[in-house]
Amino acid sequence: MHHTTSGRKKIAVIGGGNIGGELAALIARKELADVALLDIPEKEGLCKGKALDLMQNGTLLGWDCTITGTGNWADTAGSSVVIITAGVPRKPGMSRDDLLSINLKIMRSVAENIKTHCPDAFVIVISNPLDAMVYECAKVTGFPKNRVAGMAGVLDSARFQLFLAQEMGVSIKDVKAMVLGGHGDTMVPVTSYCTVNGIPVKQFISPERLASICARTAGGGGEIVKLMGTSAYYAPATAAVVMAESFLSDQKRLVPAAVFCNGEYGITDLYIGLPCVIGKGGVEKVLEITLTEDEKAQLAKSVAAVRELVDASARL
Ligand code: LAC
Repeated sequence: MHHTTSGRKKIAVIGGGNIGGELAALIARKELADVALLDIPEKEGLCKGKALDLMQNGTLLGWDCTITGTGNWADTAGSSVVIITAGVPRKPGMSRDDLLSINLKIMRSVAENIKTHCPDAFVIVISNPLDAMVYECAKVTGFPKNRVAGMAGVLDSARFQLFLAQEMGVSIKDVKAMVLGGHGDTMVPVTSYCTVNGIPVKQFISPERLASICARTAGGGGEIVKLMGTSAYYAPATAAVVMAESFLSDQKRLVPAAVFCNGEYGITDLYIGLPCVIGKGGVEKVLEITLTEDEKAQLAKSVAAVRELVDASARL
């Protein structure tokens, strides 16, 4: 197995499951980078098979990236970005938090390998329970905190924006909204900043309907798990690519992501979803925006829930 000599950047995708496969497909289709799709040695065949299928798909679609399926961490060397999807997904009836002990073990081993093989990469975590997994990843790699972030807010905001657009019968292109806080039941859809082309949605949607859309957003992942028996993967993959692309192309997108708090919003030593700017320096800025009293209270509740999970991790 030879390393990429294409001159293109490389992205390591850890976990060859549904999100991993969709990530590889999307990254190649956008010609963003070559991809090393890695899973445990027992699943190397799955990664190699997906890589081959995707490369053949590339022949038809006409893109020029190389996707390599592998069970060998050496093949991830030289990656500019690592996206971690590794872990067990939810089954119907499970919360993301139910995955803590099993996925923590996986994350510890993945993070050790990233530290060894991709010491300079920007790391994006997708594995659940998200905020606790990002914290652990940053801790084990020892990377600067701005080089490790979690994908949740971009996805949760997309869900929120879709439901708002559908409610109003307008294009999703004109709806802007952010979801902050932890990637769980306590997430905070920030209604004070939801707009349709700059017009606050509160001018169009009643408080009752808005509350029900917020509730559907918070349960948005679970709604899909219930329908399909496993986790979503198209939108989660695309959301991570938004973050990866912002880093690789220094786009400085302002997005909600799980970032390390060092006093912002009065939160310390915790990863949680907040608005940030992602560019070539990784998470370049965490923005402190004005929240309503209600939103502040919701964020505080979410912080408590995430902290409980991080404390539980430390005992496992
Ligand atoms: C979801 C998973 C990716 O929200 O956390 O669908």
